Amino acid sequence: MRKSLKNCFLLLSTALLLAACGTPEDTRPGQPVKTRQEAFKDILRSFEPMGKMLREDRYDAERFLGFAEAVVAKRDGPWSHFGPDTDYPPTKATPAVWQQPEKFEAERQAFFKATDALLEAARSKDAKQVDAPYKAAYDTCKSCHSTFKAR
Ligand code: HEC
Repeated sequence: MRKSLKNCFLLLSTALLLAACGTPEDTRPGQPVKTRQEAFKDILRSFEPMGKMLREDRYDAERFLGFAEAVVAKRDGPWSHFGPDTDYPPTKATPAVWQQPEKFEAERQAFFKATDALLEAARSKDAKQVDAPYKAAYDTCKSCHSTFKAR
């Protein structure tokens, strides 16, 4: 009884510690998990403002084009950091990345194709032409995440 109570406190304090410290650090050489996560966040920093512009009905053709170009420039960032044996905390990737490499690659190609189309639409500088390609590109993020990203 006493011992299990003690264990319980231990568990509780570990849980609190984890909660307090957030996700574990990537301590591996080269920090592949952290590096690919940063690369995705960097893509998001250029991708998200386009969506905001469209939602708020404040399309600015020049800025939109700049963001579309930036997404294409950054889109190669994450992939080379998904090496074998890089499925460890703090990753948010699912094991499917390594179990279904062909599907992962197909999702990646779909994302490339959709961002190509987005850039082309952005070059038209026509508000009516960018909406659908933006949504289509967004869908490729979501589609890949639904299988390959856990949270
Ligand atoms: C081919 C698959 C694929 C595509 C396409 C993809 N992602 Fe991801 N994304 C992932 C995976 C896998 C992870 C988890 C990486 C990890 O934690 O190791 C991830 C993680 C992220 C993260 C989380 C980074 C963090 O540490 O919290 C963001 C943000 C993100 N992606 C944004 C995007 C956006 C925006 C797009 C589209 C413009 C996109 N992703 C397209 C697979 C993809």
